[in-house]
Amino acid sequence: MLTNPCYEITKFGFDGLHKGNYELAKLKDNEVLIESCAWSLNYRDLMMIKGIYNPKLKLPIIPLSDVCGKVIEIGSQVKNFKLGDLVCPNFMPNYTSGPLLKEHVQNALGGAINGVLAQKLKFEETGLVKLPSNLSAVQGATLPCAALTAWSALLEYNKCKPGDTILTFGSGGVSLFSIAFAKLCSVKSIVVSSKEERFDDLKRLGATHCLNYKTNPKWDDDVLEITNGIGVDHVIELGGANTLEKSVKVTKLNGTISLIGVLAGIGSFNPISVLMKAIKIQGIFVGHKQMFERMNKAIELNNVIPVIDDKLFNFNNVPKAYEYFEQGQHFGKVVISKD
Ligand SMILES: NC(=O)c1ccc[n+]([C@@H]2O[C@H](COP(=O)([O-])OP(=O)(O)OC[C@H]3O[C@@H](n4cnc5c(N)ncnc54)[C@H](OP(=O)(O)O)[C@@H]3O)[C@@H](O)[C@H]2O)c1
Repeated sequence: MLTNPCYEITKFGFDGLHKGNYELAKLKDNEVLIESCAWSLNYRDLMMIKGIYNPKLKLPIIPLSDVCGKVIEIGSQVKNFKLGDLVCPNFMPNYTSGPLLKEHVQNALGGAINGVLAQKLKFEETGLVKLPSNLSAVQGATLPCAALTAWSALLEYNKCKPGDTILTFGSGGVSLFSIAFAKLCSVKSIVVSSKEERFDDLKRLGATHCLNYKTNPKWDDDVLEITNGIGVDHVIELGGANTLEKSVKVTKLNGTISLIGVLAGIGSFNPISVLMKAIKIQGIFVGHKQMFERMNKAIELNNVIPVIDDKLFNFNNVPKAYEYFEQGQHFGKVVISKD
């Protein structure tokens, strides 16, 4: 047995996050041992620690889904990885291709099973992907959840085309990756964000229009005006039931809404316009390993660089990273590096 430092949620709330030791059994022939280099936080991790994501979550649990690590040992049957490779686990390590099945959902890191906030981790090689060569480990730690979700919404479950327009919400992880992937497909993106001081940054990253949902509650009318009354082709719906009505209003006939998040809380929703506009609503739950590999090729070819918040945390101040993330002042991904 190898012991290694980790964090565990022992009870809901930030005061329930404690350092522990994660015991790893001996490496099997098909497994890879990695040394974690960096982790990133997702909104899900915040909901998880507060007990909102799953009030019945079995505790204690090691949190987080996102890590990038260096391969330090391989089992005798491992074919696709070598010592020193930088790798990420897939969000559901056993979800390698095809339709989403119950057993994949039951394998989601940092939720259904222990997550990755430990210094050493082991995975079957089928659960890992190599990092795009243009990214550092810190940048790579942003990919497993937010990036893959944006990628699968725009390019796997749906196929956005040059000239399309998308709508996305906020300046967090999924939204900024959506803007980046839209840009590389020559797709216009309208962003609703409360961070007006970052609108120039959003435009530099590829957003074609920025609207402030706090000071301009009628942003939906502006989206229609921008699109000449037609509406957008695709909404990256991160707000949830409370923004869905506006999303339906600004989606064009036969357009698509990818249901991804619940940032604006749980509300009620009248579905009539969805049928009358023949809108397709697609639920998204991250994606599988083959999607991750396709995304990594696109990231490498187009030199897509993830946006990381200016504040970087380390393994010893993880609770501070959670607190900072909760304040919602971040722009891009909040990353924790190993030292
Ligand atoms: N289904 C899936 O597979 C999947 C995967 C990943 C994430 N998600 C979900 O997607 C959402 C985004 O996750 P994330 O990790 O990217 O979050 P994040 O990095 O924490 O970003 C959150 C940002 O959303 C914006 N926001 C907050 N409240 C809003 C509201 N009422 N209306 C519009 N924008 C609002 C804010 O941007 P401004 O400060 O710019 O206003 C905030 O910074 C979460 O609900 C998460 O659970 C789902």
